[in-house]
Amino acid sequence: MNRHYASPKGHSAFPFPIASNRSFQPRPQPAFRRRRQLFHRFLLLGGISFLLFLLIFPSWRAAILPAISLGLVNHSEELHHLQTVRYFDLSEVQGTEKGWERGERVLMLTPLRDASSHLPMFFSHLRNLTYPHNLIDLAFLVSDSRDDTMEMLSRMLQEVQDDPDPKMNFGEISVIQKDFGQKVQQDVESRHGFEAQASRRKLMAQARNWLLSATLRPTHSWVYWRDADVETAPTTIIEDLMRHNKDVTVPNVWRPLPDWLGGEQPYDLNSWQESETALALADSLDEDAVIVEGYAEYATWRPHLAYLRDPYGDPDMEMELDGIGGVSILAKARVFRSGVHFPAFSFEKHAETEGFGKMARRMNFSVVGLPHYTIWHLYEPSLDDLRHMEEMDREREAREEEERQRQYQEQEKGHDDAKSGRSSGSDAGSSEKSG
Ligand SMILES: *[C@@H]1O[C@H](CO)[C@@H](O)[C@H](O)[C@H]1NC(C)=O
Ligand SMILES: *[C@@H]1O[C@H](CO)[C@@H](O)[C@H](O)[C@H]1NC(C)=O
Ligand SMILES: *[C@@H]1O[C@H](CO)[C@@H](O)[C@H](O)[C@H]1NC(C)=O
Repeated sequence: MNRHYASPKGHSAFPFPIASNRSFQPRPQPAFRRRRQLFHRFLLLGGISFLLFLLIFPSWRAAILPAISLGLVNHSEELHHLQTVRYFDLSEVQGTEKGWERGERVLMLTPLRDASSHLPMFFSHLRNLTYPHNLIDLAFLVSDSRDDTMEMLSRMLQEVQDDPDPKMNFGEISVIQKDFGQKVQQDVESRHGFEAQASRRKLMAQARNWLLSATLRPTHSWVYWRDADVETAPTTIIEDLMRHNKDVTVPNVWRPLPDWLGGEQPYDLNSWQESETALALADSLDEDAVIVEGYAEYATWRPHLAYLRDPYGDPDMEMELDGIGGVSILAKARVFRSGVHFPAFSFEKHAETEGFGKMARRMNFSVVGLPHYTIWHLYEPSLDDLRHMEEMDREREAREEEERQRQYQEQEKGHDDAKSGRSSGSDAGSSEKSG
């Protein structure tokens, strides 16, 4: 900070008028010269004590300096000199396709709720990210948690920031704690049940808006939303999505399944293109209704990003979307600065991330999905799956038990045969021959 005040501009006010006036003055008399020397010394002393004064009382600087530099420096220059005013040129943080080369800052946002079991995996992903860590600011919202998410998070953040390898350390980190009264149980069944969806999505929307508006800084060019329960994702994901240079970009999200369920499955059904059927359905619903995708209750016949996946397809292929899912979203910060947000109410019959996609489109931002670029969500078995797995376990045990019984019986039979063989010589003789 002191550097600013040592620069000539701030203090040029003193020497200039005196120096330039001197050449027009008549040659001074000796007595007058002595007096002038005294005056100069006095002035020098005054100047030095003034500087010391400024150094000692920083808070006075802001009050005194603008008065001195009045009119001498141009307005924006002046702002740079003030400690309490920060000057930002947002045209420098527009977001470009090669952000990592231009030093563009990314705000990475993760909402957490009873997530301590996912945090080790999440931090492993964080450490593996190839985007320069010092350009990534992290922000977490911990809400409605009953487990030790907060303690776990603090510990893991401490660890990553204390890492001796400076390439591992992230930029600014914010942790925000606020409950939104998610009453629904967090187990997989009730979280994905149809009835709970609309109100759940509205609360999630509020949480996202809080997290974003509390942490977005004028230095951010990009915002990356990433859920904690992603199991597999390319380490280059930020660069990969950024390269498309679109306002909003999402990858395809699938999840692995146990073999008996088919091995894999589309997971995020919130990324879709609008359809005539869905528009007609939306028109027929009342104002506050929220359409949620992926439920038989609302058959929308929309083209879903998830279903278009071809494992051998071009990962760079783009598809325009209207609604998007929230597992992994890269967006230019200017989208949010323009006022697009996650509606916690029915916006065009949608809420949260699907509403966000619709709102971004409505404001003419580009929203794309990558059908053949896939990340994998953690597989958490539903109650049905758990029941089914238990049943399968029981069946397997029953089969094994049966097998043991059969072997045992065969052994017994063998013994019996052997015994009966010993007792009746002819039988034993024939079996020994045949064996
Ligand atoms: C003020 O200074 C800024 C930064 O040095 C410069 O870009 C701008 O053109 C200047 N404005 C005027 C009116 O001189
Ligand atoms: C991160 O990289 C390490 C080393 O390559 C690997 O063992 C680990 O599984 C990676 N983490 C994740 C979450 O992929
Ligand atoms: C978006 O673009 C359309 C067509 O170019 C235009 O009519 C509309 O006013 C634009 N909307 C906004 C919010 O800029």
